[in-house]
Amino acid sequence: MLSNIVAGQKVHEQYGGVVPELASRAHQQHIVPVVDAAIKEAGIKKEDISAVAFTRGPGLLGSLLVGVSFAKSFGMALDIPLIEVNHMQAHILAHFIKNDEEKYPQFPFLCLTVSGGHTQIVLVRDYFDMEILGQTKDDAAGEAFDKAAKLLGLPYPGGPLVDKHAKNGDPKKFEFPIASVGEYDFSFSGLKTSLLYFLKNNLEINPKFIDENLDDICASYQDTIIRTLFNKLVKAARQYGVKDVTIAGGVSANSQLRSELEKVGQKEGWNTFIPPFQFCTDNGGMIAIAGYYKYLEQDFVGQDIVPSARLKF
Ligand code: KG4
Ligand code: ZN
Repeated sequence: MLSNIVAGQKVHEQYGGVVPELASRAHQQHIVPVVDAAIKEAGIKKEDISAVAFTRGPGLLGSLLVGVSFAKSFGMALDIPLIEVNHMQAHILAHFIKNDEEKYPQFPFLCLTVSGGHTQIVLVRDYFDMEILGQTKDDAAGEAFDKAAKLLGLPYPGGPLVDKHAKNGDPKKFEFPIASVGEYDFSFSGLKTSLLYFLKNNLEINPKFIDENLDDICASYQDTIIRTLFNKLVKAARQYGVKDVTIAGGVSANSQLRSELEKVGQKEGWNTFIPPFQFCTDNGGMIAIAGYYKYLEQDFVGQDIVPSARLKF
């Protein structure tokens, strides 16, 4: 990995969630400076590049369009091939970004992919042979964090802030419901609604309820999400007899999720893997590593490629 430049988008903070139109505009503003910076930091010339990998989906269409259009122009200008990458597969393949002390997970392995838009348990048989065993029926785990944060008056993205407050709180102080859905599926929208009514009821009695209980609310709410995720992950690992278990996606930056993976892993006899922190939330490095494995297979696409907001594996 020669460079990995990430441009954050502060513009969404005041809205408590990503505003699609603002996201694509920000992408447009950032893409040229970010690519320039990445090339500069890598210490290479544009002419040294042998292919360009880009995210085709899933994601927000307006943002994907910016990336796909840029990749096509870049490829055409330099006369190099294009490689399409699936965003969710790239999160998983972030485990294979070279790292001195880390060993790679062995196929077949399980990956709990948890991000702002997705929550999936994936059976990974090979780099691009992946099967989704279960996924969320409504909100993603990251969304559950972000929406809770909004209700608690914390800025977007709230996941890291809930994580921070939870560290000082009691996870057993309050009780939130765990939804019962299909075998390896999830549902987080009821949890968010239960928090809404829980806060409403308590604020009526005590207007300072949130301020006085923020750490405990965060800890209890976060603990419910983590327990929900592990219930299903453990079930899947036992059912499929898989011993290498991994997590990926933005929510895998969560400190309780990371420590719980170690704890549950020891009990279940798993080999556990977590991508380095900088490759957990969306980043170019994970797209590049997925592109690299496709490059080895000479798996290229033409200039007629279009983005797909709901791209499947
Ligand atoms: O993968 P990602 O960067 O973007 C998507 O593809 O959605 O994931 C972003 C999500 C956001 O919902 C954010 O709140 C969540 O990851 N997140 C966290 C933490 N860091 C990021 N959630 C909980 N705890 C964290 N430490
Ligand atoms: Zn992502």
